[in-house]
Amino acid sequence: METVRSADEIRNWVESWRLENRSVGFVPTMGALHEGHLALVRHASQLADRVVVSIFVNPTQFGAGEDFELYPRSEEQDSELLQEGGCHLLFLPEPSTIYPDGHSTYVEVETPAERLEGEFRPGHFRGVATVVTQLLNLVRPNVAVFGQKDAQQLAVVRRLVRDLHLPVEIASHPTVREPDGLAMSSRNAYLAADERTAASAIYRSLSSARQRIEQGERSAEAIRHVLSEVLEREPLIDIEYAEVVEADTFEPIRRIRGSIVMPVAVRIGTTRLIDNFSLEVDG
Ligand code: PAJ
Repeated sequence: METVRSADEIRNWVESWRLENRSVGFVPTMGALHEGHLALVRHASQLADRVVVSIFVNPTQFGAGEDFELYPRSEEQDSELLQEGGCHLLFLPEPSTIYPDGHSTYVEVETPAERLEGEFRPGHFRGVATVVTQLLNLVRPNVAVFGQKDAQQLAVVRRLVRDLHLPVEIASHPTVREPDGLAMSSRNAYLAADERTAASAIYRSLSSARQRIEQGERSAEAIRHVLSEVLEREPLIDIEYAEVVEADTFEPIRRIRGSIVMPVAVRIGTTRLIDNFSLEVDG
């Protein structure tokens, strides 16, 4: 595995592969890598001949008072994991490559970025859309892989690629979970032992909701109720939202049918966690 930091180096590597007729897969990350990230890397290596992973803790997607400074950074360990995990090229851009002096251009997606995460983290998706556009333009992959763990981010990226006619295919990978169902996340490291135990209620709430839908419930309000009820049984959890939305727009729905997502965001102490289930439901 090679490691590069500059725009020229990443362009040259990918260009040399293109001249050899090799396809390129790309997995953008913020590091502190876990099995979820590594599953995306393996998926990318099934979809393309060469795999590029970027690690960049993107300041513009963190709000004031969020955890940008605290965000776990483990470059050496990440590099070892990627080396073993089938990554060919690790891209570690300098902040000045992504945001040089005078940087003044941002990418703003409206639907599906406005609701939920967009409301609770104003500016977050502007930062994500901007950095993802830049990374796609720097790497110029054939396919980029994103996790379903961040379902709204995936929907935002799909919309941005479609609307800006970016020449890349967007692929996704299911959420990788701990044995008790908690979605793997770099932020799980913030949880104290009792908070970690409480966090498993997120998966239980989603599982209960899915079960009710499978049993025939089609009222979104009833399903929101199930989600909240299970989460509220856990005193350490504060709910930000527990929703049922249409999968492309992230608009809340009344009746459950077609492609839906149940996104959940909670706070446990000072840690904010998100998760979701996506479902295809017959009318
Ligand atoms: P990060 O949180 O590091 O996640 C990088 C990718 O890994 C995202 O596509 C995310 O959905 C996926 N991922 C995280 N946890 C996962 C899990 N448990 N199972 C499957 N996939 C998982 O998302 C970002 O970084 C940033 O917003 C980024 C897209 C890199 C832009 O800065």
